[in-house]
Amino acid sequence: MRDSAVDREWGGTVSVRSLAIVAAAASLVACGCDAGGEEASTKTVEELRSPETCKQCHPRHYEEWSGSMHAYAAKDPVFLAMNRRGQRETDGALGDFCIKCHAPLAVQAGLTTDGLNLDEVPDEYEGITCYFCHNAVDVVGDHNADVIVANDTTMRGGITDPRTASAHHAQYSELHDRNSPRSSEFCGGCHDIVTPAGVELERTFQEYRESAFATTPGAFDSCVGCHMHADYDLPVADDPDTMVPTRTVHEHLFVGVDVALDDFPHREAQRAAIECDLANGTGIFSIAATPDGQFEVLLETDAGHMQPSGAAQDRRMWLRFIAYDENDQVIYSSGDVASDEVVDKPEGDPQRDPNLCLFRDRLYDEEGEEVHMFWDAASVESHQLPTRTDFNVPHTVACTYRTPALPARVEVALRMRPMGLDVLSDLVDSGDLEPSIVERMPTFTMHGAVMHWSLDEDGFDTVKRIEPFPIDCPDQYRCLLQGGDIDSCTPGG
Ligand code: HEC
Ligand code: HEC
Ligand code: HEC
Ligand code: HEC
Ligand code: HEC
Repeated sequence: MRDSAVDREWGGTVSVRSLAIVAAAASLVACGCDAGGEEASTKTVEELRSPETCKQCHPRHYEEWSGSMHAYAAKDPVFLAMNRRGQRETDGALGDFCIKCHAPLAVQAGLTTDGLNLDEVPDEYEGITCYFCHNAVDVVGDHNADVIVANDTTMRGGITDPRTASAHHAQYSELHDRNSPRSSEFCGGCHDIVTPAGVELERTFQEYRESAFATTPGAFDSCVGCHMHADYDLPVADDPDTMVPTRTVHEHLFVGVDVALDDFPHREAQRAAIECDLANGTGIFSIAATPDGQFEVLLETDAGHMQPSGAAQDRRMWLRFIAYDENDQVIYSSGDVASDEVVDKPEGDPQRDPNLCLFRDRLYDEEGEEVHMFWDAASVESHQLPTRTDFNVPHTVACTYRTPALPARVEVALRMRPMGLDVLSDLVDSGDLEPSIVERMPTFTMHGAVMHWSLDEDGFDTVKRIEPFPIDCPDQYRCLLQGGDIDSCTPGG
């Protein structure tokens, strides 16, 4: 156990405490008396730690999880590059700060202290695994991954009356129950980051706690409630030794905005799922014009936190606004960014667009210079779409433009890039990231937020969606998850 001053600064004391609890729980396993168990389970802790074991009986959960960012968290080349650079630039002071969230089991087992040796760490310790989530028994803080794992053979979940499975004991837990605020504390504990400099870098949980979804009785929703879609009347296990009833099964793809950038299972399904959730989650509320060509576009999000959220210092979400005259010539545009182009050009760049309507966080160092990396940040400035804090109060944000003359038509679309090309190039320049990764960063168009404005014959504004609202797109990515290809799996099909 290390207890240098630097270590404590980076939250090292936390893992020390969790390790002590883990050690206590391990002795329970040794006596064969862990939760719920008169009989010993047929699988050992070592076996249960591997997602491959779960796959035998929970193949659907496994397929979804294997394509998720939780499975990717310690394989993500951008993560590896950033951690490597952070360790170098802080002379190792970063310690286990990053890896504690991206491979918590490896840190708890003492297999890594800085994440630089992940090549040597067995797969089942990497990422946010089945065993990690389903063996979690408590979360004590509200940031920086204060999750405690029992290290026993009991799998905790949201089912109140689980059947006795031979492979593992099963137990209901509030931490996994979408109807309990405790479940958001469980997710939230990792989805808020405070850096040693005290910068509240990622604030998804904090934003959620202040939202109407957490504070309005009767309108309660949780992280799990929104992010793990329910599918009804299915067995949750495929187990020849147990009579398994039908229940509600919950999706384990954990869709956000990030995608796998190198070879990884279910990449197409992940992308289709992101397009689907983004399309349904964010919208253009209205477009209004004055006769002299002043436009106001109101945007809003239905997410239970701001948008972008979390790694908002890396995300780029912006509005593309293109105005055409009667001859279909572009007379004005903003945010019409090519797929290989940096969204927000730096100060002084002749191509910088002063009207760009962009949502992201910005990090600054002590001198007030803008920086990209966590460990350089002394402060953060947020420009995000707000979530609802009151169901009776509008929560839109306006983007405004002035066109040279009243256009014949205008097309607006909200777009999202999971990570800015400026941040990725910074990692390439420092020699930490393979340049080919940069080209693979996608740019999503939020299809629910693609709108068309024009004037009708009587001079009234008409605003319509260009693309149909893809309500039934889940069918497409579920078809892809089951091994279909992009041609046979059509949205709604
Ligand atoms: C040999 C088959 C088998 C294996 C292997 C297996 N399970 Fe299960 N699991 C079951 C059965 C059977 C149930 C009970 C289903 C029910 O009650 O509907 C179950 C239930 C669960 C539950 C629900 C608990 C609750 O109360 O909500 C979770 C969570 C779970 N398993 C996770 C896992 C994880 C994680 C692994 C791998 C570490 C795993 N299982 C491996 C058969 C298995
Ligand atoms: C990030 C944490 C997390 C990870 C990783 C995770 N699960 Fe879950 N799982 C949950 C939560 C939370 C629930 C409860 C959902 C609910 O009841 O609304 C759940 C529910 C379940 C259930 C009960 C049935 C159901 O669908 O509700 C099973 C079985 C299960 N998970 C198996 C797995 C397996 C197998 C893996 C890995 C392949 C895995 N889980 C990975 C959080 C996780
Ligand atoms: C051990 C910490 C940890 C816990 C607990 C955890 N997560 Fe995560 N989660 C992560 C990390 C790390 C990533 C990002 C991995 C990457 O992109 O490299 C992530 C990614 C995600 C993403 C995808 C984000 C994106 O932009 O694509 C979603 C959605 C998500 N988590 C939801 C949840 C939910 C819901 C729960 C609770 C059931 C949960 N997480 C619990 C650490 C955690
Ligand atoms: C009321 C529904 C709702 C609740 C509650 C909710 N989310 Fe989200 N979340 C969304 C929607 C909608 C999006 C945007 C679509 C997408 O990217 O999946 C989103 C996006 C995200 C993302 C991607 C980051 C980004 O920039 O958009 C993460 C990570 C995430 N949520 C985690 C969480 C966590 C952790 C919690 C609980 C503390 C939570 N969410 C609660 C609906 C919700
Ligand atoms: C408290 C837990 C936690 C810590 C500490 C943490 N991360 Fe993460 N990381 C996450 C979560 C959660 C996400 C997903 C965020 C989202 O989608 O909004 C994530 C996403 C990422 C991503 C991919 C998405 C992106 O655009 O940035 C990278 C790269 C990353 N983290 C690198 C790091 C590095 C490097 C460190 C250490 C300097 C670190 N993380 C520390 C939880 C953590």
